[in-house]
Formats: sequence, structure tokens, C-alpha cells
Amino acid sequence: MLSIKLCSVPNRSLLEKSWRELTTDELYSILKLRTDVFFVEQRIDEEELDNRDQEPGTMHLWIADDAGTAAYLRVIVDDHPAHADARRLIGRVAVRKDRRGEGLARALIERVIAVHGDEALLLHAQEYVTSLYAEFGFEPFGNSYIEAGISHISMYRAGTASRSAESILPL
Ligand SMILES: CC(C)(COP(=O)(O)OP(=O)(O)OC[C@H]1O[C@@H](n2cnc3c(N)ncnc32)[C@H](O)[C@@H]1OP(=O)(O)O)[C@@H](O)C(=O)NCCC(=O)NCCS
Repeated sequence: MLSIKLCSVPNRSLLEKSWRELTTDELYSILKLRTDVFFVEQRIDEEELDNRDQEPGTMHLWIADDAGTAAYLRVIVDDHPAHADARRLIGRVAVRKDRRGEGLARALIERVIAVHGDEALLLHAQEYVTSLYAEFGFEPFGNSYIEAGISHISMYRAGTASRSAESILPL
């Protein structure tokens, strides 16, 4: 996948790379954000480095600023759908504390929908923030559960391809 610099206004550069395209500095900065947020802040005790980052299908998407990685998420691809027809899973959504509330997480999700929105998407949302994903058409399913000590709920978004097919089905 190509590295795309979508916009380069100060404090809002959105970048998208596969594992092999990441520089060591970029990788360091991404892992710093992920570990600062999930380890230090949220004290999640499950493994952060799960060997999915290196997979060829994994997309790393982030917003950089002068201080490093301000916001990040990744999209991984499962061999078989984990729920319904969804093989792509959004995860590790994290925004640096000093950049929260500016719409950075929203901008990252928007980009994922722009690139992969024709396909079904899945995520395991921390329950307190489901409204972020609901805004983009993700719907909760199943019961909430505790993952890494935090209450989560799975959310599914049908691909726009199947949505349009549904809309032209005869009544
Ligand atoms: C959750 C998180 C990613 C949100 O990032 P952000 O860039 O501040 O979010 P945005 O500014 O794009 O907010 C978009 C919407 O998400 C929802 N949202 C964001 N932060 C929220 C919070 N703390 N509580 C409830 N809803 C929240 C709101 O609906 C918000 O829309 P609004 O501002 O119009 O109310 C960030 O707070 C974070 O990194 N938290 C720690 C890690 C985490 O919980 N990750 C989510 C894993 S599912």
C-alpha cells in the first residue's frame, strides 16, 4: 500500500502505511502512543504486541504532529469473517491526551470508511465511546463483556455494497 499524505496542514497530517512501509521512527512513535494510552493510562494487562501489526493486510493509519503520533488506529484482516461477513477489524484506536476532543478519532474512522466502507467492518468498542462509532453506522451486537478489565461491546457496520443491494430488493 502506498503511503498517503492526505493533507499537510499543521497538526493534522493523516498518514497510512503497511508494516513494511513504516520507518523505525514512525513505528517508535506509534508504539509510544499505543503503550502510553493502553498500558500506562488504561492499565490494560493484555499483550499489546500481538503479531498482527506485521501482517501484509494490516493498515496503520495515524495523524502526526510536531510531538509525534497524535492519533492512531489499525485495520487488520481476518482470514475468515469473525462475525457475519466482516473480515476487517478496526482496533487500537488511541488519541494522545493533549489532542483529544478535536475530532481526530473521527477523522481516522472517516478515512477507514472512505477506503473500506464498501465492505463489512467490525470493532470491539470500549462501551463509553460507542457513540463515536455509531455516528458512522456501526451497530452494537451481542452482550457487553469485559476485555482487558474494560467493558466492551462488539459493533458491526454492513458494507455499503450490501446496503445498496438491500435497498433495491423487491418488497
Ligand atoms: C476514545 C478516543 C479515541 C476519542 O478520541 P478523540 O479524538 O478525542 O475523539 P473525537 O474528538 O474524534 O470525538 C468524536 C466523538 O466520539 C465520542 N467521544 C469521544 N471521546 C469521548 C469520551 N471520552 N466519552 C464519550 N464519548 C466520547 C463523542 O461522540 C465525540 O463526538 P462529540 O465531540 O461531537 O461529542 C480517545 O479519548 C482515547 O484515545 N481514549 C483512550 C483509548 C480508548 O478508549 N480508545 C477507544 C478504544 S474502542
